[in-house]
Amino acid sequence: MGLTALQSRSARWIVSLIGLATFAFTCLRFYYQRGQEGQSVWNDAEVVAEHRIQEQEALKEQQFQESIQDIMNATLGFNKVLAINMPSRTDKRDQLVLGSSLTGFVIDFIDGVDAEGINPKTYPYNWNQEHSATEYACLRAHLNAAQRIVQQGLRTALVLEDDVDWDITIKPQLQTFAHAVRTLQDTVHTPTESPYGDEWDILWLGHCGASCKTEQPFYMIPNDPTLLKPTHLPTYYRQPPENVRPDTTRLVCTLQDAACTPAYAMSYRGAQRVLAALSVNPSGFADKLKTGDQIDIELGRMCESGLLKCFAPFPALAGTYRSAGLSSKGTDQSGHDGAAHMEPATSWGVVYSTMLNIKHILQGERVVHSTWPDVDSPVINPEDIHFERGYLYTFRPEHMDLIPTPEEEAVDESVFEDEPSFTDEPYSTSRPHATREPHPERGPEIRDPE
Ligand SMILES: *[C@@H]1O[C@H](CO)[C@@H](O)[C@H](O)[C@H]1NC(C)=O
Repeated sequence: MGLTALQSRSARWIVSLIGLATFAFTCLRFYYQRGQEGQSVWNDAEVVAEHRIQEQEALKEQQFQESIQDIMNATLGFNKVLAINMPSRTDKRDQLVLGSSLTGFVIDFIDGVDAEGINPKTYPYNWNQEHSATEYACLRAHLNAAQRIVQQGLRTALVLEDDVDWDITIKPQLQTFAHAVRTLQDTVHTPTESPYGDEWDILWLGHCGASCKTEQPFYMIPNDPTLLKPTHLPTYYRQPPENVRPDTTRLVCTLQDAACTPAYAMSYRGAQRVLAALSVNPSGFADKLKTGDQIDIELGRMCESGLLKCFAPFPALAGTYRSAGLSSKGTDQSGHDGAAHMEPATSWGVVYSTMLNIKHILQGERVVHSTWPDVDSPVINPEDIHFERGYLYTFRPEHMDLIPTPEEEAVDESVFEDEPSFTDEPYSTSRPHATREPHPERGPEIRDPE
């Protein structure tokens, strides 16, 4: 057989095969269409509905992403950032102004209260006189922050003490934290006024210990690159239950109690309640809550009792810093004693300390350094740290050996939670200022598909 004959024979075969296939396909289509005709209208409607749901979800997700964009702004997504600082401690004011400028936010100052200058008439009637005057002065300074929030009608404010340090990546950290607290408030996909949601009184970002309400879900952020190794964690006086948190996971929970107040956010309603409970006594709160102690103890009691709705990260998202110099530099709670000696600068509680990286940033380096060399990434480009999503976790005490805390506070458990007068939103807790201040950042209304 010659080559041409072979070719023409196989060509014929191919042509007839194609013909056969086309015929079979046409027949199939014909029968399929006849069979489906009744259903196709129905299917189209389903596809359209499905498509609409997807669109709605994409829109809600887009609105969430937009709302956490505000956290990149000059007040970290709060209405203001307030720092408590004694005017005489100009060194610490410099520290905060410089640090915040390098991380892109702006601080307003609240003057600290000098213990010497306190008018004894300002003590609340039940202040525990065994505490020192400086402890009252500290409480009073925090009350002045709460007063500023209410007086200026701030929806939220971040309150800092002046020895605070924070991670260079604070903005993406806070975006991740916002997703966590919005998840715990169940408002990830509902429009809220604050990027952190509206159902909270305190976000206790910096602390020296926090415990969780274990009947509430936890939010876990696995493999957080800005998380301290266990060996570098500062001393924490309160903890979530043991074994709940893998070492490489930061958790966010509904707060039971916490200690120290280097950094926390407060809402307008939270500030109102703090003033009522700790200053404008007797406001009715004092019978339900032991008051008269230091600010962190009182805020902790108010969180535990349900008078305040509080959330916290663990480990904390803020640390402390003491610049080089006299060892007495760190605190204004005690005076300068003559025996103080010189010490190097120290930062506790954050991996990529803003204060310890000032030099690197001002030298124009693109990278920052971790405080400890033995971390996974001792040098990072902060631009590589982004908003991350975590997951919800439900604590099951039956799988744990729960050790009850030895020093149970004499607090009436959850007295406020079922009491409508404290948990409902009465007219008096809305900000009168709000009527003059529309909120354009609210996205278009989302309706559920009918
Ligand atoms: C930052 O965002 C918050 C939340 O939307 C807003 O209240 C605040 O005014 C903004 N700050 C600045 C400086 O624009």
